Amino acid sequence: MRTAPGKKLFIKTYGCQMNVYDSQRIAEVLAPQGYATTEEASEADLIVLNTCHIREKAAEKVYSELGRLRRLKQLRARNGGSLAIAVAGCVAQAEGEEMLRRAPAVDLVVGPQTYHRLPRMLARLEQGEAGVVETEFPAEDKFDALARTPERQGPRQVTAFLTIQEGCDKFCTFCVVPYTRGAEFSRPVRQIEAEAMKLASQGVREITLLGQNVNAYRGLDDRGRTVSLAALLTRLSRITPIDRLRYTTSHPRDMDEDLIALHGENPKVMPYLHLPVQAGSDRILKAMNRGHDAQAYIDLVAKLRKARPDLALSGDFIVGFPGESETDFEMTLALVRDVTYASAFSFKYSPRPGTPAAERDDQVPEPVKAERLARLQALLDRQRMDFNQACIGRRMSILLEKPGRRPGQLGGRSPYLQAVHAEARGHVIGDIVEAEIETVGANGLSAHIRARGDDSRPRHRVATEGAAAL
Ligand code: 5AD
Ligand code: SF4
Repeated sequence: MRTAPGKKLFIKTYGCQMNVYDSQRIAEVLAPQGYATTEEASEADLIVLNTCHIREKAAEKVYSELGRLRRLKQLRARNGGSLAIAVAGCVAQAEGEEMLRRAPAVDLVVGPQTYHRLPRMLARLEQGEAGVVETEFPAEDKFDALARTPERQGPRQVTAFLTIQEGCDKFCTFCVVPYTRGAEFSRPVRQIEAEAMKLASQGVREITLLGQNVNAYRGLDDRGRTVSLAALLTRLSRITPIDRLRYTTSHPRDMDEDLIALHGENPKVMPYLHLPVQAGSDRILKAMNRGHDAQAYIDLVAKLRKARPDLALSGDFIVGFPGESETDFEMTLALVRDVTYASAFSFKYSPRPGTPAAERDDQVPEPVKAERLARLQALLDRQRMDFNQACIGRRMSILLEKPGRRPGQLGGRSPYLQAVHAEARGHVIGDIVEAEIETVGANGLSAHIRARGDDSRPRHRVATEGAAAL
């Protein structure tokens, strides 16, 4: 295949962490074709929009961005240059050929299961084909193809995402994921361990395992035995430089006893869990096809907190699902009061074409959704602030991840995923330190570093921008 030395690639990522992971892989897949990433869309030869389809606004944002890019492309053509535009991710998957009709500036449409084929697609484009679309779910293993691509690009990070599972078989009646990402698939253990080890050797100290239904993970080991998420976490926790493990997103139905127990047993598994419940009314949970009622969720949280008393919870909520009455909504508020969350995401229900809930004729009016969302968010905000305030005076370990906002400061994360900044005091990015939380501000917590949190380990300085100066 023809290489194109010196070309620039700009990737804009929408939506979830899996898209962040995919965008990094897209950059890797294109690097051997001569593409280096840039932060400036205006200087790019290829622009990839890695899209999200989970809610209406996400797709609309993509189309308006494509309108702007069309003008950039026209300008480039007038100046004798060229610009290729690719749309990847779930909007690409859902829209397919339609995307080319609705946004004629688009050259390539590639789904989440086919982006390893981008080099081939670009070659077809260069050979004069107009509008190349690849959105099927191929039998070939995307992850196998990706494993053969060279090193990650860009500055070294001390935290990383690692996709271990994709797709969803749950079919919640509001959700497009089972249609855009396909059926549940778990990567084999060996592949995941190899990727984790590579990350560790690059200085990564915290890995977040990703999957649409991450705790439904059932990967195969070398002997063909099925490995659960709890067993996988245990294996990964043996990789010495990896000090912290997280996983997201979990479904309450797949939270098995081993995984619950692991939170109390393995100190590398962080005491923070994203466990969406979506709603607090049994009637609505049933209509959503969630497969559990509110009490089952509350009981599950109690079990988790018994295993790990300081576990901080995060969740997702949908307000204004079709047929949701004021009483149903108040049950969501009651559940939130009962569980108490350290952080949460909440959304107005957005009808997604092709999903069962979108067909219902009892849609909730927009102003009602807006009013409920405001009430729910006020409650969740209060809980988040209370959680942060309660941390003042506490000592906790902080993984220093990046330069702080002011010179001499570093920014990091607490075990509970709070953003924390502190005076560096000789510490560098990649250090895990013990720090006392002093104040809570709009942009996170500020802390005073008391000691190194990992004294037993040889200090490995990670060559991250800004670290050397501190
Ligand atoms: N409308 C609103 N929110 C949705 N989510 C998924 N589908 C929809 C929809 N149609 C939310 C859920 C899910 C999160 C990723 O996005 O809360 O957990
Ligand atoms: Fe969507 Fe439900 Fe699957 Fe989550 S579990 S990805 S909300 S269908």
